[in-house]
Amino acid sequence: MNRFKRWSAIIFPLVLSASLGLITSGSLQKAGDEALGTRKYSDYQTPTFCGIQCHNDLYQQWKQAMMSQAYTHHWDEIEYFKLAVPQAEKDPVVAGVKAGCNGCHSPLAFLAGDVPPPLPSKNSRANESVSCEVCHTVTGFAGDVPHNFNWISEPGKNKYGPREGKISPEHNMVKSEFLGTAEFCGTCHNEKSPYGVWVKSTHLEWKDGPYARQGVKCHDCHMTYAPGKSASMGNTYPDVRLHLFHGAHDTGKVKGTIELRVNPDLNEAAPGDKVKFTIALFNQKTGHKFPTGSVEDRIVWMHVEAVDAKGNRYHLPVDKKGFEGEEYTIAADTLAYQDMGIALGDPNFKGVQRDGIPVGDRIFRMAYFDPQGRMTIQQWNTKSQGVDYRLGPRETKVETCTFSIPDTVPPGPLVVTAVLNYQKLVKPVADFLGVPEDESEIIEVNRHSTTIKIVD
Ligand code: HEC
Ligand code: HEC
Ligand code: HEC
Ligand code: HEC
Repeated sequence: MNRFKRWSAIIFPLVLSASLGLITSGSLQKAGDEALGTRKYSDYQTPTFCGIQCHNDLYQQWKQAMMSQAYTHHWDEIEYFKLAVPQAEKDPVVAGVKAGCNGCHSPLAFLAGDVPPPLPSKNSRANESVSCEVCHTVTGFAGDVPHNFNWISEPGKNKYGPREGKISPEHNMVKSEFLGTAEFCGTCHNEKSPYGVWVKSTHLEWKDGPYARQGVKCHDCHMTYAPGKSASMGNTYPDVRLHLFHGAHDTGKVKGTIELRVNPDLNEAAPGDKVKFTIALFNQKTGHKFPTGSVEDRIVWMHVEAVDAKGNRYHLPVDKKGFEGEEYTIAADTLAYQDMGIALGDPNFKGVQRDGIPVGDRIFRMAYFDPQGRMTIQQWNTKSQGVDYRLGPRETKVETCTFSIPDTVPPGPLVVTAVLNYQKLVKPVADFLGVPEDESEIIEVNRHSTTIKIVD
């Protein structure tokens, strides 16, 4: 067979089926829950094998990204072993997550039926997390909507990627349109809870937004193109996809995501006057909502303060708008997350502070609720959700703070500053579960100030 025939025999059926997004489910093409235990670890190469000699640059990038730590990272280990596995063993509704978490966080362990996988400290192959072979063996997904690890993995000599017809000494290179689509990312970046609620919807948010309409994909922001080589002995290309996957764990990526502008309704005021400060928050950077992904963990909030001529500080709580469910979007002194008690063996657990930030600050979030209607950080134990008050792609939200100038404010400038902060995990939960500090570190997304004049 000449080379064209051989390649086309491999490529055309794959491209066709991958672009349709559905490959008929043969016995070797199981997806989602059905793929549990259908493969062996030894069907797949290790990332170090791919990295050594050939793909060192891409390997080093991947190594520093969350993809290579999806199973081993401290918060993942704590949430899986302390909360998810114990609850799965007690509650039949969520029993499936004992295996299912690994469908996205350690796909090879899932495929090998290694459930629960050994602890990260055991250094087993589960630690490979979302490895090179996880992605480069995927040929499509099952069903209509990518979600809950419904990718189809076909390991072997064929490695699927963006280029065709190139010769590698190690493996066949088969062009797959699918890897270049947002749907591919959606197989792990959309998640439905056992109660049928969309608890992760990054791809769906993107699909509804302006970037999808303009053809800007996940890859264009998280795997940007740069000129270079993708293999040490390979050609130089103008457009190699960097394997950076920088997201919420990259402070630089998060910073500047939202722009803030504050303006007053009066330029001069006297004690006793009311001044209204309007803050416009514009999402200039994300292709999906902010925050997205692990929305149950994340907290984004705006803190507004005034400083007078003598340096006295005043906290300005946000004005209420009056929409349904707003109480979850304004920081309060209240307890939540009582359902952590299920896994921890304390059904009467009182919970921990819901927000852990100054009371009255505006929170941009969507609350997740457990079957009893209590706020939860356990996405698998989520039966309903509150109002979606996150910042959509290219959306502007407008907030106001009305300040009744106290008598104690001296004449002179009054500087009002709005700061937008971000935490990957609400601090009271992080402290309670012993999650290391970097997960609840406060990242300043942006700030802006305005000045008015106080007169007698
Ligand atoms: C989360 C999925 C994912 C992981 C993990 C992953 N890749 Fe990729 N890789 C991709 C995607 C997506 C592309 C680009 C596909 C496209 O643009 O059509 C790509 C492209 C490539 C290319 C082709 C680059 C070019 O432009 O010629 C190589 C080579 C590659 N990856 C190797 C690796 C290696 C080695 C690892 C592990 C260290 C790895 N990948 C891990 C998804 C992944
Ligand atoms: C096999 C499942 C899988 C696929 C396919 C996948 N991801 Fe991921 N991705 C994950 C998991 C799991 C994490 C979370 C790692 C963690 O924080 O534990 C992650 C993390 C990320 C992050 C980092 C987020 C952060 O918090 O810093 C980015 C960005 C990302 N993925 C983008 C992509 C893009 C773009 C694609 C498609 C080209 C893709 N992913 C495909 C499973 C996947
Ligand atoms: C226009 C650029 C852009 C596009 C397109 C885009 N993202 Fe992002 N993404 C960002 C920025 C900026 C951040 C950092 C801010 C944040 O955490 O949301 C981010 C964050 C993330 C995070 C971490 C979110 C969190 O809160 O933990 C994930 C995961 C992610 N993106 C995945 C994706 C996937 C999957 C797609 C495609 C369906 C995609 N992104 C499309 C810009 C983009
Ligand atoms: C459908 C795929 C999928 C499933 C199933 C899944 N996750 Fe994830 N998980 C992800 C992705 C993708 C991210 C990254 C999202 C982001 O960055 O916001 C993530 C993020 C996380 C994080 C936050 C990591 C961080 O450092 O902020 C934890 C913890 C986590 N998952 C634990 C679990 C547990 C425990 C389960 C099972 C109950 C589970 N996941 C099931 C895809 C999945």
